[in-house]
Amino acid sequence: MRAAMAAAEVGDDVLDRDPTMRELEERVAGLLGAADALWTPSGSMGNLIALMSHIRRGDTFLAPTGSHVLDAELGTAAWLAGGMPKPLSHDAGPGKVSPDAVRRAAGSTGPYYTLRATLLCLENTHNAAGGTVTAPEEHAAVAAAARRAKLKVHLDGARLWHAAVALGVPPAALTVGADTVQVCLSKGLGAPVGSVVAGSVEFVEEARRLRKMLGGGVRQGGVLAAAGLVALDRIDRLAEDHARARTLAGGLQERGWRASTPETNIVLVAVADLDGSLRRFEEAGVRVSTMSGQVRLMTHADLTDADITVALDRIGPIVPPPRTNGGPADRSGGGRAPARPAAR
Ligand SMILES: Cc1ncc(COP(=O)(O)O)c(C=O)c1O
Repeated sequence: MRAAMAAAEVGDDVLDRDPTMRELEERVAGLLGAADALWTPSGSMGNLIALMSHIRRGDTFLAPTGSHVLDAELGTAAWLAGGMPKPLSHDAGPGKVSPDAVRRAAGSTGPYYTLRATLLCLENTHNAAGGTVTAPEEHAAVAAAARRAKLKVHLDGARLWHAAVALGVPPAALTVGADTVQVCLSKGLGAPVGSVVAGSVEFVEEARRLRKMLGGGVRQGGVLAAAGLVALDRIDRLAEDHARARTLAGGLQERGWRASTPETNIVLVAVADLDGSLRRFEEAGVRVSTMSGQVRLMTHADLTDADITVALDRIGPIVPPPRTNGGPADRSGGGRAPARPAAR
C-alpha cells in the first residue's frame, strides 16, 4: 500500500482534479451502483456532506438508535446539517428498523410548526449493534417505505464491504433505493485515511462544494487515493476477519463470557462491571474498547489466526462475570461462570 502511495500519479484535486482520486471515485461509484462519487478524508465528513445536502433547518431525520450519525459525530447532523434527530428502535432485529416503523415515524404533514421528516439514515453493518448485517431484501423494503413517505435515504456504509462479504452479494445489492451512500476505506481494509460518498452527478457536484466548505479538499490527493485503491483489492479478505471474530467469540463463550456471536468482525461482550473488565483486559495485554455499554473486540487486517490464539490465552486467566440464566450479567461480581455458550 505504501509503495502504491509513493508511486501514485497526482494532480491537484482542489483545482482541477487528481487522476488517481478520480480513478478511485469512479471505481467506488461502480461498486455501489451510483452515478458518481467523491473522496472525503473521513466517514464522518462523508456522512455530514450527505446530510447537509439532504436536510434543511426545521427538518427531522430518522435513524436506528445508536447510529454513528446520532451518537458518534458530535451532533453535526443537528448543528451543521440542521436536522433534528429522531432515533428509531431496532424493531426488526439488532441494528434494523422495519418499513412500518419508518412509515409511522415519517408521519403526515402537520401545522406549519411541525418538524418535517425528510430523511432516513440507515447503517449497514450497524456498528453499535455489533456489526450486524442488513440483507438486500430488508434494506430494499425499508428504503422503499421511506421513499413512499417522500423521505430521502442516506446509507452509512462505513462497513458496507463487511456486509457484502458476509452475505456473499455485490455491494451494489445493498444500496438499492439509497440516494447517497458513504463507505470507508479505512475500516478493516487498512487504508490510513479516506472514505467515499456516492450518489447522483448533481449530488456529487454539490458534495464537492460542501467538502471544500468543511476544509476537506486535498491537493495531491492521489497519494491517499492510491491507498484506497489497494484497500478495494482487499475486500474479499474481510471473510478472514469474520472467521477470526467467530473464533474469538467462540473462545470467549467457552471461557464463560457472554460474547455475541458475530455476523462480521465485531464481538460485543456483556459485562456487569465495564470499567473493571476494561482494566482486566488491558492488564492481560488485550486491547479492547467499549460500545453500547459492552466490551468491544474487533478483528482487522493486521491480525492473524495466531494473534487470536494469543488473545484467548491471555484472556483465559481473567475470571468472567457470572451469568444468571442467560439474563443480564449478575452485578454481585466474582466467581467463574459455567462454561456454556452465551445465548445471543
Ligand atoms: C458506522 C460508522 N459510520 C461512520 C464512521 C466514521 O468514520 P471516520 O472515523 O472515518 O470518521 C464510523 C467510524 O467508526 C462508523 O463506524
